[in-house]
Amino acid sequence: MSNFLLFLLLIFFSFSAKPSLCEPRATQAAMICSNRTASMSQRQNFISNFLATMDAVTPLIATQRYATVVNGTGNTTVYTFGECMKDLSRNDCNLCFAQCKTQILRCLPFQLARRGGRLFYDGCYLRYDDYDFFNETLSSNDTTVCGKTEFGSGNKTVFGDNAIELVRNLSAEAVKNDGFFVGSVSRSNVSVFGLAQCWEPLTAMNVSACEDCLLNAVSRIRSCIPMEEGRALNAGCYLRYSTQKFYNNSSDPVPVNGGGSNKLPIILGTTSAAAFLLIVGGVVFFVKTKILQKRREYVVRGKLTEKVDVYSFGVVVFEVICGKKNNSFTASSSSILQMVWDLYGRRRLHEAVDPVLQSNFREEEASRLLQIGLLCVQASAELRPSMSMVVKMLKENHEIPEPTQPPFLNPSSRETSITTTSATNNSKPESYSQSSGNSLTQSWIDPR
Ligand SMILES: *[C@@H]1O[C@H](CO)[C@@H](O)[C@H](O)[C@H]1NC(C)=O
Ligand SMILES: *[C@@H]1O[C@H](CO)[C@@H](O)[C@H](O)[C@H]1NC(C)=O
Ligand SMILES: *[C@@H]1O[C@H](CO)[C@@H](O)[C@H](O)[C@H]1NC(C)=O
Ligand SMILES: *[C@@H]1O[C@H](CO)[C@@H](O)[C@H](O)[C@H]1NC(C)=O
Ligand SMILES: *[C@@H]1O[C@H](CO)[C@@H](O)[C@H](O)[C@H]1NC(C)=O
Ligand SMILES: *[C@@H]1O[C@H](CO)[C@@H](O)[C@H](O)[C@H]1NC(C)=O
Ligand SMILES: *[C@@H]1O[C@H](CO)[C@@H](O)[C@H](O)[C@H]1NC(C)=O
Ligand SMILES: *[C@@H]1O[C@H](CO)[C@@H](O)[C@H](O)[C@H]1NC(C)=O
Ligand SMILES: *[C@@H]1O[C@H](CO)[C@@H](O)[C@H](O)[C@H]1NC(C)=O
Ligand SMILES: *[C@@H]1O[C@H](CO)[C@@H](O)[C@H](O)[C@H]1NC(C)=O
Ligand SMILES: *[C@@H]1O[C@H](CO)[C@@H](O)[C@H](O)[C@H]1NC(C)=O
Repeated sequence: MSNFLLFLLLIFFSFSAKPSLCEPRATQAAMICSNRTASMSQRQNFISNFLATMDAVTPLIATQRYATVVNGTGNTTVYTFGECMKDLSRNDCNLCFAQCKTQILRCLPFQLARRGGRLFYDGCYLRYDDYDFFNETLSSNDTTVCGKTEFGSGNKTVFGDNAIELVRNLSAEAVKNDGFFVGSVSRSNVSVFGLAQCWEPLTAMNVSACEDCLLNAVSRIRSCIPMEEGRALNAGCYLRYSTQKFYNNSSDPVPVNGGGSNKLPIILGTTSAAAFLLIVGGVVFFVKTKILQKRREYVVRGKLTEKVDVYSFGVVVFEVICGKKNNSFTASSSSILQMVWDLYGRRRLHEAVDPVLQSNFREEEASRLLQIGLLCVQASAELRPSMSMVVKMLKENHEIPEPTQPPFLNPSSRETSITTTSATNNSKPESYSQSSGNSLTQSWIDPR
């Protein structure tokens, strides 16, 4: 069975691991979860409306780079907005957004469905809430996130002056240029780079809304000087300066990676059923063309897609071993994730194996594989193992760490496994934890 999974894995990743020429800038700048939570009786509806908006937002992002979606009625209505920075290539926009989508789930574990959440990445932005915030310019939860390193490679006064001039000019230019501008100021041997962007609904509404938002951002981002990085994160706009040139101002088109590649991250990010189809399609494709032998604001594309792919892979592991199709992210008890997680809590993982096998397998091996699957679908992407780690665990008799909880499970499963969850949070093995070192996390309420 291990060998079969390794084979699946190879196919899975030879499809998704396309090289990318640029960064999707999927570093988290801030995550802000609302402190309002859905009541017990609202939870199920609120979460399924949330998921419906997530599904609807993704294809819109892929075509127009931003999306506003509303789903549901009454007090479980969910409003969702997403947008990429305008300098990101289409491919990177999709990648950044796929990652954003998996991470915002941290605002709504089933036990505590928060009624709002915002996730700022340096390449994209995603927000959901329980009211119509699409035109919102500023809100009380807007935040400023400064880097941790002081500018040290030159005259600090000059740096500060350049940074202030830059953000002022960027903001003024953005207002005149459809709500987006990038640029730099280089004077007296000190360079500062920056990006200003108003979110689309604001730009569409009226020029002064964008202006108000960026003026506020300028006044707040000044508090970051003399740090090397500064970001103002508002309900209506994003402003950043940096000592590094982080944006893309080239007009050279990126070489196209082939027709399907742009859609891939969306498929992977959306439903595991689609991922499953992808694999079946992949097998057929490979057998037919016999390429298998020849394979070399493969190349490993980066942590970002990998973690999304690892999640999908975990679900596929369950589908293969349990002989069932996962009904996606629903919180219902028939979810395959729920079933496997429950059995894990009761230390009876082997019961999840497809009954067709009629106990014709080694319980220990099946349990090992399912446990690897659970590691892959942990709610926190940072805790998911890297693909090389998965390969190691599949091939060798490597010790398998205790998984933490997947997203969207019923509270009932918690009682049986809460000890495991809390125990492993403190003892995550270094070998597979790959949290991005330079991501700046600021949350008003710890979403974990
Ligand atoms: C923002 O602040 C308001 C209160 O000022 C609060 O109700 C809301 O939950 C907060 N969070 C978000 C994400 O809006
Ligand atoms: C929610 O957070 C806001 C500030 O963001 C605070 O004013 C409010 O009292 C909080 N509400 C609750 C119920 O904690
Ligand atoms: C909400 O989502 C559901 C499920 O995707 C869909 O059937 C329904 O049409 C959506 N409602 C609206 C108002 O978009
Ligand atoms: C939400 O709406 C339902 C029916 O629309 C109502 O019964 C319930 O009291 C409402 N809850 C809140 C907190 O407003
Ligand atoms: C930094 O530059 C300012 C203005 O150019 C100058 O007045 C100041 O003396 C410089 N400081 C240092 C430490 O070089
Ligand atoms: C891109 O920006 C850099 C620094 O801001 C500048 O030196 C360069 O000329 C720009 N290139 C184009 C094509 O605008
Ligand atoms: C910034 O704007 C001011 C006033 O419009 C202008 O004089 C200055 O040249 C601009 N600086 C840069 C670097 O574009
Ligand atoms: C510019 O800065 C670099 C170090 O950051 C220094 O080596 C160089 O001498 C400086 N040049 C001028 C003209 O100040
Ligand atoms: C948002 O702006 C649109 C026009 O772009 C307007 O029709 C709508 O009423 C506004 N909504 C709010 C809540 O201000
Ligand atoms: C434009 O937006 C501002 C808020 O930034 C608002 O005060 C003003 O009324 C809006 N003007 C129009 C014509 O909608
Ligand atoms: C840079 O932006 C242009 C559009 O302005 C886009 O065509 C190109 O693919 C981008 N390049 C990279 C490396 O992101």
